[in-house]
Amino acid sequence: MPVIAVIGAQWGDEGKGKIVDLLAQKAAVVVRFSGGDNAGHTVINPHGEFKLHLIPSGIFSPHAVCIIGNGVVINPAVLIDEIEQLDKRSVDTTRLFISDRAHLIMPYHVLLDGLEEQLRAGKALGTTRKGIGPAFTDKAARLGIRTGDLSDKEVLLERLRFVIDYKNTILTKIYGVSPLSLDEVYRQYCQYGKRLAPYIRETTIMLEEALNRDEVVLLEGAQGTLLDPDFGTYPYTTSSSPLAGGACLGAGLNPTKISRILGVFKAYCTRVGSGPMPTELKDETGELIRELAHEYGTTTGRPRRCGWFDAVAARFSTRINGFTGAAITRLDILDALPRLKICVGYKLDGETIEHFPGSVAALDRYQPVYEELPGWQTPISNIQQYEQLPIEARQYIARLEELISCPVNLISVGSSREQTIFKTPIF
Ligand code: GDP
Ligand code: IMO
Ligand code: MG
Repeated sequence: MPVIAVIGAQWGDEGKGKIVDLLAQKAAVVVRFSGGDNAGHTVINPHGEFKLHLIPSGIFSPHAVCIIGNGVVINPAVLIDEIEQLDKRSVDTTRLFISDRAHLIMPYHVLLDGLEEQLRAGKALGTTRKGIGPAFTDKAARLGIRTGDLSDKEVLLERLRFVIDYKNTILTKIYGVSPLSLDEVYRQYCQYGKRLAPYIRETTIMLEEALNRDEVVLLEGAQGTLLDPDFGTYPYTTSSSPLAGGACLGAGLNPTKISRILGVFKAYCTRVGSGPMPTELKDETGELIRELAHEYGTTTGRPRRCGWFDAVAARFSTRINGFTGAAITRLDILDALPRLKICVGYKLDGETIEHFPGSVAALDRYQPVYEELPGWQTPISNIQQYEQLPIEARQYIARLEELISCPVNLISVGSSREQTIFKTPIF
């Protein structure tokens, strides 16, 4: 049985939550493997509408064990609130587990995320200010505190005493803000530890057991490939790897086990926060897409920048991740548009390139080269068979398939589970 990684193929918000919720109905385990509560995964299903930041989107599937993997940074207050919100709405959270190796977001991480952004002024990254960058910085600097540390109060106090001293020096001497109280943070995190204790454990064994039983495992990506710190538009990226490669590390799974890699692409492009986006539309078409699609951030509410499908970036995404198939989401949003454009190259001084450059300065200078296709101008949200899509929609999908160089497995034409067209089998 396959292990399927579901990966954001653009700048995040591609509709990963919808796809994972859909596929999780057949899965035994669903693991979130990267990011933190910078993610906002919308799920609309018979239980209602949910915006999940940390809990895997498989939580609605009655048989799926859901794991927050070691690669996720966890703000315990956000997680506890998310658990309680689900409990209130009668969604069973007893199948939720948290890796004891996952790092915690601490109050100084959230503070520093905001202060660092202020300091960057005109060069701000547009982070979600959830403390993600500072938490991953501490992980690499070996200053992190992990969920497993919460179970031993003495270890926690000793570790926290050292780290808070260090952070308070930065807060007071560099940023001139008030220091944090060791006592308060310690007491607060002891409470979190008590509340989360039933969920925290060694989770890689659970994965191994599921694989031994030959069950379907889903690896739920957060963010998107072009936000990857190595292959995204650095420095305008996030701080952990949303890639298929990151899935192995962040879930605690050996790389030979992943059998399918599903790239989730929006039928156009969006981006929240700063950084280059070659196909961004700063005109009325961009605004029309934003309003039609209600493109506002799930986590921060910020308006998303909207633009045409960028096949140069998409092909790069396929290559870096090794997509075995694609899910194209929000095709229905394009219903109203008479003409559609796809970016097939980048142009500068009469020269056209077809690869995605590593430098943001270069990306800023390039102009997109577009191919135009006719729109279908008819509603498609209720269509369930590929053959029933208007010819123009099929042409659009066929062209995307060709350009991104992997088969389209499914097409999403609405936010609910049944608004999905299965084109070719995922496995
Ligand atoms: P994620 O972060 O990748 O899970 O995506 P978000 O939840 O942040 O944003 C995707 C948005 O698109 C959500 O509001 C979904 O409900 C919605 N959505 C997903 N698929 C479709 C689709 O095919 N059509 C429409 N109209 N909305 C969709
Ligand atoms: P999902 O999982 C879209 C963006 C932020 C910012 C940059 C860095 O819902 O697709 P960070 O707070 O991570 O340091 O911010 O990354 N970003 C996302 N954009 N979807 C997300 O997650 C994102 N997570 C982070 O907007 O530009
Ligand atoms: Mg999102």
